[in-house]
Amino acid sequence: MPLARSVSNVVLFEVAWEVANKVGGIYTVLQTKARVTADEWGESYVLVGPYVESAVRTQVELLEPPQPALRRTLAAMNAQGCKFAAQSEERPFIVGHFHEWLAGLGLVLSRARRLPVATIFTTHATLLGRYLCAGSVDFYNNLHSFDVDKEAGERQIYHRYCLERAAAHCAHVLTTVSHVTAAEAEHLLKRKPDLVTPNGLNVRKFSAMHEFQNLHAQSKARVQEFVRGHFYGHLDFDLDKTLFFFIAGRYEFSNKGADIFLEALARLNYLLRVNGSEVTVVAFFIMPARTNNFNVESLKGQAVRKQLWDTANAVKEKFGKKLYESLLVGNLPDMNKMLDREDFTMMKRAIFATQRQSFPPVCTHNMLDDATDPILTTIRRIGLFNSSNDRVKVIIFHPEFLSSTSPLLPVDYEEFVRGCHLGVFPSYYEPWGYTPAECTVMGIPSVSTNLSGFGCFMEEHIADPSAYGIYIVDRRFRAPEEWCAQLTAFLYGFCQQSRRQRIVQRNRTERLSDLLDWKYLGRYYTFARRMALAKAFPESFTYEPPEAAAGFRYPRPASVPPSPALSRLSSPRHSDDEDERYDEEEEAAKDRANIRRPPSPPGLPPTRN
Ligand code: UDP
Ligand code: G6P
Ligand code: GLC
Repeated sequence: MPLARSVSNVVLFEVAWEVANKVGGIYTVLQTKARVTADEWGESYVLVGPYVESAVRTQVELLEPPQPALRRTLAAMNAQGCKFAAQSEERPFIVGHFHEWLAGLGLVLSRARRLPVATIFTTHATLLGRYLCAGSVDFYNNLHSFDVDKEAGERQIYHRYCLERAAAHCAHVLTTVSHVTAAEAEHLLKRKPDLVTPNGLNVRKFSAMHEFQNLHAQSKARVQEFVRGHFYGHLDFDLDKTLFFFIAGRYEFSNKGADIFLEALARLNYLLRVNGSEVTVVAFFIMPARTNNFNVESLKGQAVRKQLWDTANAVKEKFGKKLYESLLVGNLPDMNKMLDREDFTMMKRAIFATQRQSFPPVCTHNMLDDATDPILTTIRRIGLFNSSNDRVKVIIFHPEFLSSTSPLLPVDYEEFVRGCHLGVFPSYYEPWGYTPAECTVMGIPSVSTNLSGFGCFMEEHIADPSAYGIYIVDRRFRAPEEWCAQLTAFLYGFCQQSRRQRIVQRNRTERLSDLLDWKYLGRYYTFARRMALAKAFPESFTYEPPEAAAGFRYPRPASVPPSPALSRLSSPRHSDDEDERYDEEEEAAKDRANIRRPPSPPGLPPTRN
């Protein structure tokens, strides 16, 4: 039974800088969670964020607030220049849920002014942690010993750090998104979070089981078109044997693991070359950086491709017409007359336009900090310049988030992910990491690490993650050289799979979706709100900690041999013999039956009155 129905006089305010304001993963939390929260709270759920004109125009539908109390409050706030005025006769209980230090100010002030609000603070990272990791600090081995005030002061973030720490301490309930970040908060913010609230997604269920595979094929065709244009004049590789890898997210070079990804790509290039592999890898880097727009060479590539397409179509039209006319009069066409000189001239001209002296560019934009940009300087160092000898065509560095209205690569992020083969997110600092989670629900395998919230969560729930296309690099217990070797082995192993093995693996990846659905993970937010109400209003609410309920447990897939010693990490199946015996539907049915599922979401917060 939803909370709103039993405790009708509770209003939930969720406050964050990322409400309808796309900055990074916190936006994804709020945007995807909105549905389950609204299902639970109905009209008693209010999201508060910054007024960003462009976002309001595209993402917000302006409506009158349905609740009279809220209507009056908003009118009064407007009239008084946004001052707080609670004017309801029947005062509702209020839960104020604040995300991150920017919104934390509201929490600190609510407590300082002793407002009757049950407060929750969710931190999605710690400021100091992010800064320390971005420098060359051995963060996880020294977590307990940082002099936090000194470190924050030296990085000139002391004021922000104090606000974050104050919000964490003032809140009735402190939550964070993973156990990794919980340990970090305990040491850097000096308060142990009361609860971990892992991030979920809205999982799209298709009526046909293989629909997501069809979407992969359709989206891949879009990405291939872009690659055809980008590599015009140098299409010396077979697109049917080309794999698309990508990394995406905020541009934090080492925190997001772009550094080790590049290093592993250089090694992969070597391995593919010396082993005479027919596979080519195109690696995309989607990380926004400062640019002054697309570069001419990249735009020209797409224009040349379009011109070839138009030429082929024009010739096809004329050819078709002549063929039709010949058939109409009962003759088989004279093939020598089907194309005339004009057609050849047109085709020659189009081919001439594809001549190019330089290699295809490694970056799609003109970078403002070209000489010092970490991705570009690393590419220069490792020498992956999209030459014909390279089997890894690194790089298409696209320093802007994707958009379906782009003149260069007109796909949105979801379509792009679906069209790729592997997402690579070998982060060093990653409280959760939505990008691999999004890959999972779309049935696309990914690499993450055991320093990311997502990687740890998957390790906790899945017996053999790599069999499901969840590759987890051990960056916690191994040395840097070993991370790179392990990542390279994952990438190389992935390149050795056959198409059929990739299809099987995608099916398995997609099977994990339920684990990441807000329908399951939303319950942790429910627990947090109950705990806050019980702490703030003990005379009216009680809180029973949830039983250590059994969560999801995914066993090793049915067709994978039981002993890990026999299993090749990167392959979904392990021998030809097994291949013979493999039946996709049968495995899916068996695996679904073997998954241990958590009980349905618990009931309502007990009330005293
Ligand atoms: N993203 C996007 N467009 C892009 C690339 C990424 O919208 O072209 C989104 C992606 O869907 C994800 C978010 O950016 O939800 C990144 O979140 P994550 O938690 O991985 O990292 P953060 O940037 O918050 O550290
Ligand atoms: C999906 C489609 C298949 C296609 C395959 C390509 O499974 O349903 O028709 O052959 O994708 O997979 P690949 O890993 O080679 O892109
Ligand atoms: C932060 C973290 C990211 C997480 C996101 C949502 O931006 O960097 O790892 O996924 O918040 O919680």
